[in-house]
Order: sequence, then structure tokens, then C-alpha cells
Amino acid sequence: MQILVTGGAGYIGSHTVLSLLENNYDVIVYDNLVNSSIESLVRVEKLAGKSIEFIEGDICDKGKLSGVFKQFKINAVIHFAALKAVGESVKIPLSYYQNNVHGSVCLLEVMQEHKVHNFIFSSSATVYGEENDVPYVETMKFGTPSSPYGASKVMVERVMSDFAFSNEDFRGVTLRYFNPIGAHESGTIGEDPKGIPNNLLPYVAQVAVGKRHELSIFGDDYPTVDGSCERDYLHVMDLAQGHVAALNWLNCHSKFSGVEAFNLGTGNGISVFAIVKAFEQASNKIIPFEVSPRRVGDLPAFWANTSKANDELNWQANRSLDQMMVDTWRWQLNNPNGYQS
Ligand code: NAD
Ligand code: WQD
Repeated sequence: MQILVTGGAGYIGSHTVLSLLENNYDVIVYDNLVNSSIESLVRVEKLAGKSIEFIEGDICDKGKLSGVFKQFKINAVIHFAALKAVGESVKIPLSYYQNNVHGSVCLLEVMQEHKVHNFIFSSSATVYGEENDVPYVETMKFGTPSSPYGASKVMVERVMSDFAFSNEDFRGVTLRYFNPIGAHESGTIGEDPKGIPNNLLPYVAQVAVGKRHELSIFGDDYPTVDGSCERDYLHVMDLAQGHVAALNWLNCHSKFSGVEAFNLGTGNGISVFAIVKAFEQASNKIIPFEVSPRRVGDLPAFWANTSKANDELNWQANRSLDQMMVDTWRWQLNNPNGYQS
């Protein structure tokens, strides 16, 4: 079965491509490499002992996309390709709407033209916004997005619902990721942020390896266990396997049409201070930090209700916090300059 993976050279995409190959799917990656390197796929091929078809292209380029659907008999599309920096999305919102929303519409149009109906979308816990109580459940209404990035995820989910309403062949799954961290246990593929990392774990890892001086902890006066924010961190390999589970779910539900949403998380909230402590233990390094003011847009605490994914996808995030830290550290140590090293 051939799966088209847009954005498959990126962080979550590359780990998912590996899981797909390990589960005997054939993979075609379509990526414009705006935030990734082809080296990730070279390493995935080595780990899997299998080859990947790679096409460099933009999801907004319908002509090129269409050629891919002509060349390969694609059974399903897993759609990772997007810009993902929350702060940047506030500065250049039009680029985010163009890339993430218009790009997704282009992809759906080309899929429709080629009668490919199975679609798995990378959504985010950010769609729940601040109005909903934790833990977040799939039946909750969307909250108000806190950034253009978050809004782009809500919009694409809406596009999928409207498209499904008009087209009874469409079979969409929207996976709402919580906070993916970690790396493949081999230490050869992982997260490779360009410039100063926005997210907590890559920043902590770069402090541990000596690339950054100290971590700023954004706020210690939240109404949480220790005053710092709590998030639902899950291992990227568990997340990757969630995509295989979603694909299997589509295969098993041949009569399904419409859109189904699933939360992918562990169901536990972990504080920033707890992450720092766990990373120190795993790496045997001290992480110098200072407490700085709250970051605009951060919510105090959120985590997933994972019952639906556990029961229906038969999926669970099994890897421990310690494993997430150990694997992040191994990747960082072995690749201090990411895929450049
Ligand atoms: P990433 O930046 O590592 O991967 C995204 C990939 O998409 C990159 O390889 C990039 O080159 C490619 N891409 C971007 N725009 C493209 C375009 N127009 N055409 C073709 N390729 C394009 O990001 P990631 O962390 O792997 O995230 C993957 C998906 O998961 C994204 O949709 C992101 O919004 C979503 N997501 C990520 C997180 C997270 O914390 N990492 C959480 C929730 C949801
Ligand atoms: C985690 C916690 C920070 C950096 C973002 C997006 C979300 C999703 C995942 C895509 C927060 C704190 C962080 C630092 C810190 N992405 N922190 N110092 O904000 O939960 O989610 O990535 O969909 O949409 O918003 O993740 O890793 O940035 O932050 O104290 O240098 O770590 O305040 O509490 P976040 P994060």
C-alpha cells in the first residue's frame, strides 16, 4: 500500500516514515525542505533497510502534486507539511495561512481529482484554546486560537468537515498532537530546529550540550503543582505509531466516511521544573536556568483525555518520561549540530 507523506522529511514526519516502513507500507515523501534536510530520510532508509521515494515540491504547487498522484497509485495521504512556529506566525500570518491553509486546500483538490479519499491530518492540542477545561476531549468545541498558527489548524479541520459534508467518499482523520518530544532510540534521527529553539526540550538539550548558556523558565506563578506550566509530553515514536494506528483504523473501517478526531497524548501533565529535573537525571548534566516572565499566549496547564485513541485506535503512548529524556539526550550528544554534523 503506497502512502504519500507530505512534510515527511521533518521531525514528526521522518519518525512516522520509519514506522510506516517498519509496518510494510511503501512511502512517497513530498517536501519542499523549507524546515528540514534530506539527510533525515537518508538515515531513515538506513534504519529501515528500505528505500523511500522522495519528491522535492511544495504543496501549493498543484501541477507537481498532480504529477505525483499520476506517477504512483496512492492509497492514503498523511499530511504533515506546514509551518509551525507560533511566534513567527504572529509576525507573518499571511505566510502561515497561505502555506498551511491554502496548501492543505490544494492538496485536497488534487486528491479529489485523483479519487484518493483517505486523509490523515496533523492537528494540534492548540485547537482547544483557553475556553475548555482539562483534560481536553475530542467532543469539545474549538476554543479561540491564540495565534495564526493555531487558527490555521482550526481552519483546516473546518475545511475537512465541510469537504466531508459535500463529498461522501472523503475519509478524514485529524490527529490532535499534544507535546511531541524525544527522538528515535538509535540517536540517528531527531528534532533539528533552525536557529534558537522555540520549544522547551530542544532548548534544554542545547543548554545541556553547552550550545546555550541557560534556560529561561517562562513563569513560576501559575496555579499548577509548582508554579510552572504543565503540558502533556509524548514520545515522538509513540506519536509516529499513532499514525500507523490511524491508517490501520481507516483500513479496518471500510464503510467509514466523514472526519474523526483523536487526541494523541499520554493523559498526564508534567511541569517545566519536572522536565528540567528529569533531563538532568537522564543526562547527568546540570541545566542552569533563570525564571523569567510568563510567555504571552501560554496556558497554565493542559493534557489529553486519551480514551478515544486508546479504545478505538488501540493505541497508547507507552514510553516513559525518562525514555523521552534519554532519547533526546542521545540524539543531541550524537548530533550537536543536528543533520549538519
Ligand atoms: P517540521 O517543520 O519538522 O516538519 C514539517 C515539514 O513540512 C518540514 O519538512 C517542511 O520542510 C515541510 N513543509 C512545510 N511547508 C511545506 C510546503 N508548503 N510544501 C511541502 N513541504 C512543506 O514540523 P513537525 O514538528 O514535524 O510538525 C509536523 C506537523 O505536525 C505540522 O503540521 C505541525 O503543525 C504539526 N504539529 C507539530 C507539533 C510539534 O510540537 N512539533 C505539535 C502539534 C502539531
Ligand atoms: C512548553 C512549556 C513554555 C521554552 C507549542 C505550540 C503548540 C504545539 C507544541 C504545534 C511551556 C515552557 C518553553 C523555554 C520555557 N505545536 N518553556 N522555556 O507552548 O506547549 O506548545 O508546541 O502544534 O501549538 O504552542 O510548547 O515546548 O514551546 O513549551 O519555560 O525556553 O515550556 O512556557 O510552558 P507549547 P513549548
